[in-house]
Amino acid sequence: PFVIADPCIDVTDKSCMEECPVDCIYEGARKLYINPFECIDCGACEPACPVEAITEDRHVAEGSEAFVDDSAAFFTIV
Ligand code: SF4
Ligand code: F3S
Repeated sequence: PFVIADPCIDVTDKSCMEECPVDCIYEGARKLYINPFECIDCGACEPACPVEAITEDRHVAEGSEAFVDDSAAFFTIV
C-alpha cells in the first residue's frame, strides 16, 4: 500500500483525500493516514500531495520507515 510520512505532519493539505477512489485516507491528530488494509495501490494520491508526503510503503525515505508500521497500527484495534 501507499503510506503518508512526516512531511504531512501539521500540513494536512488533504488534496490526497479527494483523489482516493476508495476513500481510504483518514484524518489523525497531526497527519493523515492511509489505511493499508483498504488501499488498492492505484497511486492517485501520490502526485496530489504538495509536500510529497506519499510514497509506496516499500519506497519510503530512509528514516521514515516507522510511518509504515504507524499506519498499520492506526487502523488496527488491539
Ligand atoms: Fe487511495 Fe490509491 Fe492512494 Fe491507496 S494509492 S491511498 S487507494 S489514492
Ligand atoms: Fe498530507 Fe499531503 Fe495528504 S500534506 S493530507 S498527505 S495531500
